[in-house]
Amino acid sequence: MSDTTTILNSNSTAVKSAESKGFKAGLEGIVAATTALSKVDGTAGRLIYRGYDVQDLARNAIYEEVVYLLWYGRLPNSTELEWIKNKLAADRTLPASVLSTLRGLPATTQPMDALRTAVSAWAASSIEGSPSLDQAFALVSRMPVFLAAFHRLRQGLEPLESIPELSHAANYLYLLTGNIPSENFVKAMNAYLVLLSDHGMNASTFAARVVASTESDMGSALVAAIGALKGPLHGGAPSKVKDMLLAIGSLDHAETWLRDALSHNVRLMGFGHRIYKTADPRSLPLQELAKLANPEVYELAHHVEETALLLLEEYKPGHNLYTNVEFYSAVLLDSLNLPGDLFTPTFAVGRSAGWSAHVLEQMVNNRLIRPAAEYKGLLDLAFVSVDQR
Ligand code: ACO
Repeated sequence: MSDTTTILNSNSTAVKSAESKGFKAGLEGIVAATTALSKVDGTAGRLIYRGYDVQDLARNAIYEEVVYLLWYGRLPNSTELEWIKNKLAADRTLPASVLSTLRGLPATTQPMDALRTAVSAWAASSIEGSPSLDQAFALVSRMPVFLAAFHRLRQGLEPLESIPELSHAANYLYLLTGNIPSENFVKAMNAYLVLLSDHGMNASTFAARVVASTESDMGSALVAAIGALKGPLHGGAPSKVKDMLLAIGSLDHAETWLRDALSHNVRLMGFGHRIYKTADPRSLPLQELAKLANPEVYELAHHVEETALLLLEEYKPGHNLYTNVEFYSAVLLDSLNLPGDLFTPTFAVGRSAGWSAHVLEQMVNNRLIRPAAEYKGLLDLAFVSVDQR
């Protein structure tokens, strides 16, 4: 019987021999769309949303402003900002169909799976037609509501009603805990959501655009994006960063632990990036916030980071492996008392703005995304009946 390993092996031969004929494994460096939403400059280490540096936005803007910026192409004036805050707040509801779907999930379900399921359940009962701005509003507003509801249900607690006066970041923290969060917690969560709002043609955004290009709906595009973000090579790394820091435990254990991992060819979570060959620009603001939030946890994390960077250069010379967004995301979200399995779905809450903006942008001059594959298999085999094989 042909098992998965055999299939994978024959395919990897195909991948190697095809590389020279215009195929790039992982589509590395291939331009798959034009976008006015965000520019990722991997050499200079800059990330721009519609002309604004993300570090500037993270320090000065609220998430709702960035959502407006991404969807409408410019920062809102004060009337427009009030309008979008109210509109997003008005949509923060938990429909009965989603609540009953979430209640039906085992408490052991990963929150990222619960979020994907909730978005799908909501879309099944609420979405009609191809992607629209209304669908974007509905989903960006509700994703934190769905996630927080599941987090409470799995602890045997009832979901809470949103508080319309709270900002997007503050309301999410409130829905998780039932406590009005401190100003510092809100500032940190807000900056986190801003920093994670968009990031060029990353894997999950590409997945969303592919689905949108078939003229499917916004819910389906975001379900695909959540599925893509879940993997550890993309958004699934931060809880593993937390596991790594817990396993290292103390400053004097860092080098031994990291050397052991690298000598066994284990990838260090929170380091390396397909595009950034220098420090990830999102990492610095996250680092500053993490330092303020919990100096003790930060001290260990910073020591691990510095040791890891030296060792990555020693074990992987010339690969330019730097700290990526996930490293200090994990440290920061941990300091905000979020459990590790909420890190990646909280990333999805932030990125929902960018995913939906890309879906809407894709629809403007849509052309079905349908790349080709170069066939490297056999040809012209004559069918052999089963008793002859
Ligand atoms: N630790 C150790 N070695 C690494 C790491 C790492 N974190 N990242 C890359 N390398 C090594 C690879 O082993 C490879 O070495 P080799 O040529 O000796 O085999 C070399 O660097 C190049 O690696 P690639 O896989 O070609 O790099 P790619 O661009 O595909 O990878 C990725 C980018 C997937 C993010 C990778 O750096 C990685 O796995 N990092 C750890 C997981 C992580 O932090 N993910 C979050 C990414 S950020 C985000 O998506 C939001």
